[in-house]
Amino acid sequence: MAKKEGEETEGIDENFEYTDIKDLPGVGSTLASKIKNAGYADIISLATANPMDLSTTCEIGEPTAKKIVASAREAAKMNFLTGLEFEDKRKSVQRIDTGSKALDILLGGGVETQAITECYGEYGSGKSQIAFQLAVNVQLPPDKGGMNGHAIWIDTEGTFRPNRVEQLAKAKGLDSKEALQNIKIGRAYSSDHQILLVDKIPELINKDPKIKLIVVDSMMALFRAEYIGRGTLADRQQKVNVILHNLQRLADRFNLSVYITNQVMARPDVMFGDPTIAVGGHIIGHVATYRIYLRKGKKGSRVAKLVDSPSLPEGEASFQITADGITDVEEEGKKK
Ligand SMILES: Nc1ncnc2c1ncn2[C@@H]1O[C@H](COP(=O)(O)OP(=O)(O)O)[C@@H](O)[C@H]1O
Ligand SMILES: [Mg+2]
Repeated sequence: MAKKEGEETEGIDENFEYTDIKDLPGVGSTLASKIKNAGYADIISLATANPMDLSTTCEIGEPTAKKIVASAREAAKMNFLTGLEFEDKRKSVQRIDTGSKALDILLGGGVETQAITECYGEYGSGKSQIAFQLAVNVQLPPDKGGMNGHAIWIDTEGTFRPNRVEQLAKAKGLDSKEALQNIKIGRAYSSDHQILLVDKIPELINKDPKIKLIVVDSMMALFRAEYIGRGTLADRQQKVNVILHNLQRLADRFNLSVYITNQVMARPDVMFGDPTIAVGGHIIGHVATYRIYLRKGKKGSRVAKLVDSPSLPEGEASFQITADGITDVEEEGKKK
């Protein structure tokens, strides 16, 4: 069912109906918690489970395990969509304003739901500031550029700042404590911890269907630190890939936006072209729907370059980071 642009959506995209494990036929809450404790966090992970494993870990008979997996598959609606149904789903895409009109236009109207938007750039280029702004703006009503939504923030670098959220919320006329209350922060201390936190998200959304934004700031920091010189790049990429696909699935199922950041690494060996590449390299590039490269511009401004998008032309936009948040660059002599 299509939702009109700007229409308030609370709850869940009908195409990706979410059933809790306990609501499956013949399950109930006791068995559901056993299943969850065994590591099957949601219907999808149960739908793709091996019935033998399920039978062993949950101490249930194999025929029962088979029935549960089958009904999880049914509930997960792992079907193909027709082109028309797909178009309908696209119509339910909503957008969160970044605070800068120029940056919104570059992104085709703001940060999209059902997509992963990746922002990469040097330290201090403004990647986290955009995340703070989105975590506040998602809480605004649709006519103010938000979704009346809540946010989840996975912090891998310890750079989440509550006072910055309060500052931005006040500037938008929101109650600053309430704005903080509407953001759930998970601090990841290792890459495995980061994976576990992402696995936990379906449960959080089940409890709070207003969640419309997931921030991962930053995606690669812990992986980069842990896998340095270990010669296990393939292993690392595989894990990153799993996280990214899980995030994309959440974006689709719950019609929410995913915003991830990525620090660039200087490449002194590159003599021509851009001497920086996004850490995580190709893996993220192939999964993220939108990629923005951020750099510092003139007079403290920031320049965002849209690098990769399914349907938008490449281009650039300038914006500013102010005490009140992300804004367009003020024209000379036209200061507010
Ligand atoms: N309250 C503020 N007022 C104005 N500019 C700010 C404020 N807070 C942060 N900034 C700007 O944002 C920059 C940090 O951006 P950040 O998003 O943390 O970078 P990174 O890309 O490393 O995540 C600071 O260098 C500063 O220019
Ligand atoms: Mg940062």
